[in-house]
Amino acid sequence: MLSNQASDGKRTSLHGHWSSRMAFILAVTGSAVGLGNIWKFPYIAGQNGGGAFVLVYLICVVVIGMPVMMSEILIGRRGRRNPVATMELLGKEEGSSGKWRWVGSMGVLAGILILSYYSVIAGWTLAYVVKSASGAFAGASAEIVGTHFSSFVGNWKLVALCHTLFMSLTIFVVARGVERGLEQAVRFMVPALLLLMLLLLGYSMSSGYFGHGLRFMFSIPESCMQLTEACPLTWDSVLAALGQAFFTLSIGMGAIMAYGAYLPEETSITGASTAVVTADTSIAMLAGLAIFPLVFANGLEPAAGPGLVFQTLPLAFGQMTGGVFFSTIFFVLLAFAAWTSAIGLMEPAVAWVVEHFNRTRAQGTVIIGGLIWGIGLGSVLSFNVLADTRFFKGTIFDNVDFLTSNIMLPLGGLLITIFAGWVMCRNSTADELGSSGTLYKAWRILARFIAPIGILFVLINAVTSS
Ligand code: TRP
Repeated sequence: MLSNQASDGKRTSLHGHWSSRMAFILAVTGSAVGLGNIWKFPYIAGQNGGGAFVLVYLICVVVIGMPVMMSEILIGRRGRRNPVATMELLGKEEGSSGKWRWVGSMGVLAGILILSYYSVIAGWTLAYVVKSASGAFAGASAEIVGTHFSSFVGNWKLVALCHTLFMSLTIFVVARGVERGLEQAVRFMVPALLLLMLLLLGYSMSSGYFGHGLRFMFSIPESCMQLTEACPLTWDSVLAALGQAFFTLSIGMGAIMAYGAYLPEETSITGASTAVVTADTSIAMLAGLAIFPLVFANGLEPAAGPGLVFQTLPLAFGQMTGGVFFSTIFFVLLAFAAWTSAIGLMEPAVAWVVEHFNRTRAQGTVIIGGLIWGIGLGSVLSFNVLADTRFFKGTIFDNVDFLTSNIMLPLGGLLITIFAGWVMCRNSTADELGSSGTLYKAWRILARFIAPIGILFVLINAVTSS
């Protein structure tokens, strides 16, 4: 059995440590910023009617996402092991029970399931790098871009190949370990992505439909302000907004806990969380502001679903000078952003296999990676061969997405805040967060009351109303 108890009583991680505070922030931002911001946020905001959904999402990010993220980091740093072992260790240490490890186990499972379809969509971005570079979108009409998309996702062999390629890239980085692998992948990607989003925003502002996009994203129907029946926001949409907040911030499944395990003692958890949440939310808003004006300018449907980004952005790039170049770079960056997220999705499962079964990191990565690849085939087929096989929430892809984002992540977040707010004693949490008056008190109120009650309220209403 491995031990991570150092002689001075403070635990250290078995997998190495971040080289600096900045490295940690970059890594967490790298995990948070991904397909969730650029691919998922616009399409589910579109499907759920825009403004009211965006508002609920923003409230969820601040009031629930922030305290959950802080709780995850503090638990991770205190336990300094994989999420399963950390929850077990702290559960016992805090005088509760080792059964808390099930929170970690559910997170490991959620990470595996999310990555199974995430890798498929990331595979699409790889294909779009090649398509962009070949000039397929230069001057293309909305119709041509649309046809490109449907014939691509209709070709299951090609989609499976891209999924395989992306999983291989992920396995490669994760197998190399914390310091050498994770850190370097993030350093330049987030700033570069931000720059290209600004370029797209500029284009979209000049499209003549910027006002439409702005209104779609931020105006809230009168009926919702007055809370009448006519408000299009259903409990399902509210749950989708909550799920998106968890998904985009990478919280609720122990990934951030696993990263927190490598965090140096002196780093401020509040400061780091604020930086990450701000960066992540800004990129999602930018993506929405870049995409919706294009949707309206070209008479497309905001509720088009998972293909939305792949059908709007190539169109914009196709009409720009230097579009072939920028479009290629954009999809390269998006693939990078997905890559750094995929690493984080795999980390809890790999750390668990390494510690629990005493495997090498390379072995653990290949075992878990292979498993994820296999499950992912279900999502590959959801857009072609099995597109008409629908049950419960839709295709296999729809169901895996719903089960993970809307159920498992919020449930994980609920248990994590209950653990940090109620099970851990005040001294332990204050020790990690720094007991500096108001900030600590605010976190504690959010973690003990607001976040758990909010999550439960949304989950219960969504389940009973559908
Ligand atoms: N936040 C990622 C994105 O927006 C996806 C994600 C969800 C994730 N949970 C995660 C990434 C855990 C890393 C770790 O694309």
